[in-house]
Amino acid sequence: MCGIVGYIGEKNCVDVLLDGLSSLEYRGYDSAGIAVFENGEVETVKSCGRLVNLRDKLKSDGAPISKCGIGHTRWATHGKPSDANAHPHSGSKVTIVHNGIIENYVDLKNSLQEKGVKFISDTDTEVAAKLIDYYYHNDPLAAIKSALSRIRGSFAFGILFSDIPDTIYAVRKDSPLIVAEGDGESFIASDIPAVLKYTRKYYLIEENEVAVLTKRGIRFCDFDGETIEKEMQTATWDISAAEKGGYRHFMLKEIYEQPKAIKDTVSPRIIDGKIVFDGIKDGEFKGISQIHIVACGTAMHAGMVGKYAIESLARIPVNVDIASEFRYRDPIFGKNDYLIIISQSGETADTLAALRLARSRGVKTIAVVNVVGSSIARGADHVIYTWAGPEIAVASTKAYSVQLSVMYMLAARIAFENNAIDNSKYTEFCSEILKLPEAVSQTLAQQENCQRLASIYQNAHSLFFIGRGMDYAVSMEGSLKLKEISYIHSEAYAAGELKHGTISLIVEGMPVIAVATQRQLVEKTVSNIKEVKARGANVLLACREGENGVGEADELIELPDMPDIFMPSLAVIPLQLFAYYMAVLRGCDVDKPRNLAKSVTVE
Ligand code: G6P
Repeated sequence: MCGIVGYIGEKNCVDVLLDGLSSLEYRGYDSAGIAVFENGEVETVKSCGRLVNLRDKLKSDGAPISKCGIGHTRWATHGKPSDANAHPHSGSKVTIVHNGIIENYVDLKNSLQEKGVKFISDTDTEVAAKLIDYYYHNDPLAAIKSALSRIRGSFAFGILFSDIPDTIYAVRKDSPLIVAEGDGESFIASDIPAVLKYTRKYYLIEENEVAVLTKRGIRFCDFDGETIEKEMQTATWDISAAEKGGYRHFMLKEIYEQPKAIKDTVSPRIIDGKIVFDGIKDGEFKGISQIHIVACGTAMHAGMVGKYAIESLARIPVNVDIASEFRYRDPIFGKNDYLIIISQSGETADTLAALRLARSRGVKTIAVVNVVGSSIARGADHVIYTWAGPEIAVASTKAYSVQLSVMYMLAARIAFENNAIDNSKYTEFCSEILKLPEAVSQTLAQQENCQRLASIYQNAHSLFFIGRGMDYAVSMEGSLKLKEISYIHSEAYAAGELKHGTISLIVEGMPVIAVATQRQLVEKTVSNIKEVKARGANVLLACREGENGVGEADELIELPDMPDIFMPSLAVIPLQLFAYYMAVLRGCDVDKPRNLAKSVTVE
């Protein structure tokens, strides 16, 4: 949801900013822009559309020569994608890039307009730029402090003052921002991949802290200029992890990284037939009476699988909620409730708000997060990191798979600590889950079959996904993948629910993708397959090799055999590949689907 970068050092700043923005384009790609100091003056260049348009503009008009500047890639919130609404935005002396939302921007805009300030865009960001400008009388910290005291909402700002050359100021609240330190150079960025090419050393900046980047290095202070000492962090991600590495798209690369991601997430935590989570003491989950799982998008779908896993193993009731719904419906918490938050980025605004709500009500919280040090990771009582490495494609694949693995482990651990499974079942679970990476590798062999199937269905206008239990949860994810990247309408339905309305949409040739991996439900789903077949549907079935009922389907995807609980991790693979090839065949921009952004830091 918008990406910001900033650079000061000896390199060509425009190149470094463009480089950083290209790694952040997953956060939005409606427009891009930079503002740099050239001969002591701020030069701003921006362009609507993808970063490539900005690159072309800089090439044709000539790029400024600079060693210090800021850049932005936008996911439009206030005002349509256009040159005027593109960042950076400026007042007379202040230029800013912004990620977040200024909630009270209308009031602030009115009050500035009453004082004669003129606006040229529809954005909330221009209001922030002009507000800082309004308060700026040669004291940058005082200006930032006064402006922020009036701003309500979320922000990460990179700020230039035209009369303080070669200096970047950075502040944040509820939007991600790191400040990184290289050899004689410093950076700001919304996310680590933007700087990984240059450095692994970075600092996390907190609310009410200001980072000041100059040639002399980075200084952190409060609004009154008092220095703040901060601990340096070191990124463990490898630069190659944030590059395509020979794959045509990040999405395909990330699909193929799933066995390793699962192994990295699971193996270190299985110790002597037990599940060990760093920092979570034995017995932590004893006596839980109810669990709430809250997340958005794909992470919420992982939560749905988690519900089935926890309820079936631990026999503890689980509610799964969409974070944007949960936070506003005054949820009911009991005394021994536990909240599990799932988020790849650890920055999703609604998910973060749900976490804070639960904490404010005294509920214990655990966050399942991929990005180390992210707001959600830091805000929860406990964090279980998923070790997927950077996920760049907007459509989540490997993050989902590692989230599932953590859900299974949590289910078993909760079950064991509440005496719902005995020691031998626990040990058996631990040895089975270690086989998951290999089974996922085997499932990836379905790649050609999925490509072939996509070529059959590529012209479909609408599709249905059906399944029961965990297969229904996986169907939801398969349907989401298809919609988000191939722009084909699809719906996931609980297979038994079809006949209560949706079956009226089944007509001759309608593709229906059925998932049937849960042993005691296969027969039931096969009956539903017969029902749609009788009405002309063309059925593609994903199930174990040699499963009863395969003869009912027109097309087949065979999955390796694992215990039911792990089958979602296998069933989702062909659904991801199918969505991927559908999108490729339809000429869609797989890694950057229209209107979407990977990290949604606004409501
Ligand atoms: C966006 C992304 C999805 C993701 C969801 C939740 O919608 O496009 O891929 O599942 O946000 O993101 P999170 O980072 O919290 O998992």
